[in-house]
Amino acid sequence: MADLVLRSSRGLRGTVTPPGDKSLSHRAVMFAALAEGKTLIEGFLTGEDTRNTARAMQSLGISVEGAETGRLVVHGKGLDGLSEPAGVLDLGNSGTGMRLLAGLLAGQDFFSILTGDRYLVKRPMARVVDPLRQMGAVIDGRSGGKYAPLAIRGGGGNLRPLEYASPVASAQVKSALLLCGLYADGATSVTEPHKSRDHTERMLRFFGVDIQEKGLRVSVQGRQKLRAAGTLQVPSDISSAAFFMVAAVIVPGSDILIKNVGVNPTRTGVIDILKQMGANITLDDPREQAGEPVADIRVRSGALRAVRIEGEVIPRAIDEIPILSVAAAYAAGTTVIKDAAELRVKESDRIAAMATELRKMGAPVKELPDGMEITGAESLAGAVCESHGDHRIAMSLAVAGLAARGETVVRDTEWVETSFPGFERMLKQVAY
Ligand code: S3P
Repeated sequence: MADLVLRSSRGLRGTVTPPGDKSLSHRAVMFAALAEGKTLIEGFLTGEDTRNTARAMQSLGISVEGAETGRLVVHGKGLDGLSEPAGVLDLGNSGTGMRLLAGLLAGQDFFSILTGDRYLVKRPMARVVDPLRQMGAVIDGRSGGKYAPLAIRGGGGNLRPLEYASPVASAQVKSALLLCGLYADGATSVTEPHKSRDHTERMLRFFGVDIQEKGLRVSVQGRQKLRAAGTLQVPSDISSAAFFMVAAVIVPGSDILIKNVGVNPTRTGVIDILKQMGANITLDDPREQAGEPVADIRVRSGALRAVRIEGEVIPRAIDEIPILSVAAAYAAGTTVIKDAAELRVKESDRIAAMATELRKMGAPVKELPDGMEITGAESLAGAVCESHGDHRIAMSLAVAGLAARGETVVRDTEWVETSFPGFERMLKQVAY
């Protein structure tokens, strides 16, 4: 088990380019496989989650080269080019890999089984299984399909399009249904309570698919072909950049530039919240890559004040709530986080995990059923903390440790590899 040891930093300075966006990398390799012809994916995340997805696409008969290098060549075989896998597809720790693939496989006319690690098999799957069954797929799984492993007999030519009102704002649910909808005759629509990340919509368009959006409703007409996209460049992951943003804000004397970050408005809740807290953040050189907005982000240290984090911003910042809770622990006043019950079913129960670990460092934290109340302090005390088997908890605590007095040890940090290979090296490159 790997430990990460952090000492009080005197400031972060320099330039970093975090690894490729995880959400986009999963989608890129899946969609390129469905396209007709070759797609080159540059900046593909070489973390374990996305490599598992690349491996799954290989098991489905697609030639994928270079997943270890970040420069992937995918030889797509068209919408009907996947073939029945010989073995079980193991998505490791990745909810995105499993839920999106469940949607894709529900559309095929063959049988497949999806499984994952001990954390993933505890995460809720009914949110995709139920609507996919309504579309005509036959799916079984543990507890009647509530949990993986999932066995999927795809609906093939007999799929029905679906008009679905999702009870949760979830890009994974929306994407699974749109992918299955590509195989149905007619239009499949998903309406969400708040807008979740729209990478699937943007990337399907990049591959030439017509996607209709009206308010919170997204629709796709089935049987549309995906055109090979030539080269698809994946920007740096704003969720990985967020650790550097918060580190630079809370460690006095910091001034860093984070390069080439995806700043899709459905993902930039972390920037909006930090700015509201008083952080000094600017976006330079805005541009577009593969249908996604990209910018360089400059962050300088400064005092923070408490805020309320709730409502529509929650899905736009869902993966950044752990690191935002660290920012809150260094802000003046009490920050209230609400409407974030989804955090309890992520890679770990992120509300319980952050509350437990921040308390060890001396921060007063009250757990709410759907969030937290965190009262900030001038500084926290170094402590021995646990990752709870969750990459984002591990990295959030490492950042908390950089601004704490004395030494912080984060235990069990090998999970960081799922989304951010090289995190420790990159952090230590810029933290003095
Ligand atoms: C993701 C969607 C989000 C997010 C996850 C990645 C995606 O989950 O938390 O890390 O790539 O679609 P939900 O869609 O379940 O909210």
